[in-house]
Amino acid sequence: MKRLYVISGVTGMTGNELVRQILTDGSADKILGFDNFFASSIETVRDYLQDERFEFFEYDLNKPDQMADIGRRAAALQPGYDELVYINCAAVVHTEHFYHVYATFDTNVTGMNAFLRQAISLKAQKFINCSTSEVYSMNSWNAHGGVKESDYITMAVAEHSQRTSYAAGKLMTEFFMKDAVDTGKIRGCSIRFANVYSHNERFPKHIIPFIINSLKDTGKVVLLENSRVNKRTFLNNYDSCSAVLALVQTDSALDGTIYNVATDEEISIIDLAKLCAEKMGIHDPVIEFSGYRASDPERRLLNTDKIRTRTSWVPKVDLSTGLDACIKNYLAGDAE
Ligand SMILES: NC(=O)c1ccc[n+]([C@@H]2O[C@H](COP(=O)([O-])OP(=O)(O)OC[C@H]3O[C@@H](n4cnc5c(N)ncnc54)[C@H](O)[C@@H]3O)[C@@H](O)[C@H]2O)c1
Repeated sequence: MKRLYVISGVTGMTGNELVRQILTDGSADKILGFDNFFASSIETVRDYLQDERFEFFEYDLNKPDQMADIGRRAAALQPGYDELVYINCAAVVHTEHFYHVYATFDTNVTGMNAFLRQAISLKAQKFINCSTSEVYSMNSWNAHGGVKESDYITMAVAEHSQRTSYAAGKLMTEFFMKDAVDTGKIRGCSIRFANVYSHNERFPKHIIPFIINSLKDTGKVVLLENSRVNKRTFLNNYDSCSAVLALVQTDSALDGTIYNVATDEEISIIDLAKLCAEKMGIHDPVIEFSGYRASDPERRLLNTDKIRTRTSWVPKVDLSTGLDACIKNYLAGDAE
């Protein structure tokens, strides 16, 4: 099977790892990728810029003329491939942006829908929609093995925090995806990732790089008050991308529905800070608390039976191994 991929947000954490996993030695696949560098840089895909199987464009999902160019290029290449697959990774993602209602809406909802329309107009075979576990909002865990895709949701609303606007937008994209499949226009699915991390985040503001960089620079960590109780699972971007590709390769799974993608290795944020410190040779790290984030669930535990049953996906990178790679990279100061 020879596939032509069109990947938005390709220099981001998920996109650049997809390039690595798709363009393995001998692969006959090709990728048209674009990114506007809102939260990334060309460095993450530099190794592939000379590879004729990868074409990069500094384009914006919200600029119709640039997206039309991507569509024309995909159409021209399409006859040489068995499948045309669209993967939407572009999004306004980071927690600090969740509160920017219009920015998240424009890119994450309107931009996603336009990208899906383009895939449909080209008669692409598949569309993968990156959604988020944030949609579980205040019901992000249960005592029975984690929340399931079919669980009803209790969301924080504007009475509580603008933060949920990000999740509400992503939730809407899941309906676009389902509608497109139900009406026979394309095959595809939505994925709810939980807390993805990578050893080479360009703007290391997520909790893992934040902890490592704080310990490195100051020998202490200042966490939000929420972290006195919060627990999370963490998904290495190797595993988030292998889940995307497992779904691409499993036609029967692409029924328009949703897949949780996460690990079940739960750790409190305090223990995460202690574990990072221990790995960095810092004993008894100073951990302080300041600030509070409203509507931040205490736990986020996802049930992943659905993807594990329908595809061959299992997470391969345990937290300890993933942290070792992060620490090695950040301490070397060469995070891309
Ligand atoms: N990182 C996580 O923990 C996490 C969790 C749940 C869901 N997700 C979802 O996974 C997907 C990928 O996220 P990621 O972790 O790779 O985040 P990321 O920020 O590393 O990557 C997103 C990329 O999109 C690009 N982008 C933003 N706006 C754009 C625009 N208008 N045009 C073109 N490119 C644009 C950014 O520059 C960035 O490179 C997103 O849809 C995100 O919502 C991520």
